Amino acid sequence: MLKRLLTLGGLASFAILAAACGEDPVSPPPPPPPPDPVRVALIDTVRLLADQRNLDPVPGSGPVRPELVKLGRALLFDRELSGNRNIACSTCHLPSFATTDGKSLSVGEGGAGLGPSRTHPGGVFIPRNAPALFNMHLQTQFFWDGRVEDLDDGSIRTPAGTQVTPAMEAIFEFGAISALGMFPVTSRDEMRGELGEPGNELGAVADGDFQGIWSALMDRLGAFTAYRTLFEAAYPGTAFDDMTFAHASNAMAGFMISELAFVDTPWDRFLVGNDDELSDAQLRGAKSFMTIRCMRCHETDAFDDRDGEFHNVATPQLGPGKGDGPGGVDDFGREGVTGDPAERRMFKTPTMRNVELTSPYGHAGQFATLESIVEHYDEIDERLRDYDVTQVEAALRATLLDNFDDILVTRDTILLTIEFDEAGRDDLVAFLESLTDEAARTLTGIAPATVPSGLPIDN
Ligand code: HEC
Ligand code: HEC
Repeated sequence: MLKRLLTLGGLASFAILAAACGEDPVSPPPPPPPPDPVRVALIDTVRLLADQRNLDPVPGSGPVRPELVKLGRALLFDRELSGNRNIACSTCHLPSFATTDGKSLSVGEGGAGLGPSRTHPGGVFIPRNAPALFNMHLQTQFFWDGRVEDLDDGSIRTPAGTQVTPAMEAIFEFGAISALGMFPVTSRDEMRGELGEPGNELGAVADGDFQGIWSALMDRLGAFTAYRTLFEAAYPGTAFDDMTFAHASNAMAGFMISELAFVDTPWDRFLVGNDDELSDAQLRGAKSFMTIRCMRCHETDAFDDRDGEFHNVATPQLGPGKGDGPGGVDDFGREGVTGDPAERRMFKTPTMRNVELTSPYGHAGQFATLESIVEHYDEIDERLRDYDVTQVEAALRATLLDNFDDILVTRDTILLTIEFDEAGRDDLVAFLESLTDEAARTLTGIAPATVPSGLPIDN
C-alpha cells in the first residue's frame, strides 16, 4: 500500500511539472491494475454456474427473403387491418417503446393517443399487457397463456381450431408465430370494432367466424394494387386471389423474425470469454439469478421456460380480466387454454432478454419498474399482500382484485424460499440489464415511410 501511495505521489508531481512546462507528459502506459481477487473469484463462479446450466449465447434468426419482410412490414404498420382503420399492430407494439406501448394494459380500437398516454373514451382496456416482439425465433408459445403454440408433433395449436386449415398451415414458414397475426385482427376490442359501424365490414362478421373475418380482410387488402404487388412478390407463383390471410400473417412473422432479433448483449459476450463485459454488480446479480432459483423457471439461454410449463408467481390481478371468476373480471391464465384447474393463474415465463426496455412488467403490467417486479420475489406472499397499486395508471387502480388468498392457492412453492435484501435486488436488476442488445434501444427506423393504404403510421 505504501509503495502504491508513493507511486501515485510521484505521478502527481510529474504531472504538475509537465503542466508547468506547458508540454504533454510522455508518460509510460499505466501498468494494468492488479487483478482484484474478489472479482476474479466472482468471474470464475459465474462461469462455472453458467457452464453447469449449459448457458450459451442465443443464436440470431436466419435470413428471411426480403420480399416477405417488406410485405410484413407494410401490414404490421397499416391501420387498414383494423375494422375502423384506426389502429395498427404497431399502435400497441410501438418501435419507440421497444415494440410495446409502455402501458400496463393496452388500449385498443377507438382509443386516442400513443404510448403511455393513450386512452379510450369508454375507459376500455385490453385484459393483458402487450409483450415486446423481440426474438420470436426463440419462442414456441405465444401470448401470456400460450394459446398460440407449437406442439411437439410439429403441428400448431390456436384458438381457431380447424378454421386454420391444412392449406393455411402449409403457408406458415416459422411455426406458430406465423399464425399469431391472425388473432389480434379478430378481437373486437383490439382491432375489429363492433357490429353496425358504418364502413366496418369486419365488425359485421359474427364472433367466432374467423374464416369470415380473414376473407373480409383479404378483400380489403386486395382493393390496393400495391398490396397485390407486395403479396405476389412475397409468394412468387401464387396469384393474390388464391391467397388467404395466412399469407399476411406469415409475412408479419417474417418481418418480426428478420428485423426484431436482438441477441448481442454484454452477457453473451461475457459467455464467450470477455470478462470485462460485466460490472461487479452484474456478476453478483448473475450469480444470484442462477443460485436463488430464478432459473427454475427462467431456465433457457433466453431465460424463458424450456418445458412449456406455466407458473403462478403470485402477481396481483387487475384490469377487465378474461371473463373468469366472480363478475368475469379475473384472469385464470393457462387454465383458459387447457381447461385444467390445476393450471389456474399460471402464465408463461417471459424471456429476460431486453427486459430492461419493456416496462411495465407482468401479465397485467402490474409492476412499473424492473426494481418493483424483482423485489416482488423477495418473500413473495407478503409482497403480494403489500402490493402497491399506485405504480399503475390511475384509471386502473380501482380494478385491483382483493383475491390474494385465491392467488396463493396455485402459487409455485419453489418461490417460498427466495429472499434477498435491497442490495441483492439491485444486483439482480443490474444482471438483467446485461441482457440488453444496444441495437434494440433505437427502433424507429424499422417502420416503413408509408403504407399502401396511405393511413398514418404509428411508430
Ligand atoms: C390493442 C393493442 C394490440 C394490437 C393492435 C396488437 N397487439 Fe399484439 N399483443 C397485445 C397484447 C395485449 C398481447 C398479449 C395478449 C395475451 O397474452 O393475451 C399481444 C401479444 C402479441 C404477441 C405475442 C408475443 C409473445 O411474446 O407471446 C405478438 C407476436 C403480437 N402481439 C403481434 C401482434 C401483431 C402482428 C398485431 C397485428 C396483427 C398485433 N400484435 C396487434 C396488444 C396488441
Ligand atoms: C416459478 C417460476 C418462476 C420463478 C422461480 C421466477 N420467475 Fe420470473 N416470471 C415467471 C412468470 C410465470 C412470470 C410472469 C408472471 C405474471 O405475469 O403473472 C415472470 C415474470 C418475471 C419478470 C417480468 C418480465 C416481463 O416481461 O414482464 C421478471 C423481471 C422476472 N420474472 C424475474 C425473475 C427473477 C429475478 C427471479 C428470481 C428471483 C424469477 N423471475 C423467478 C416465472 C418465474
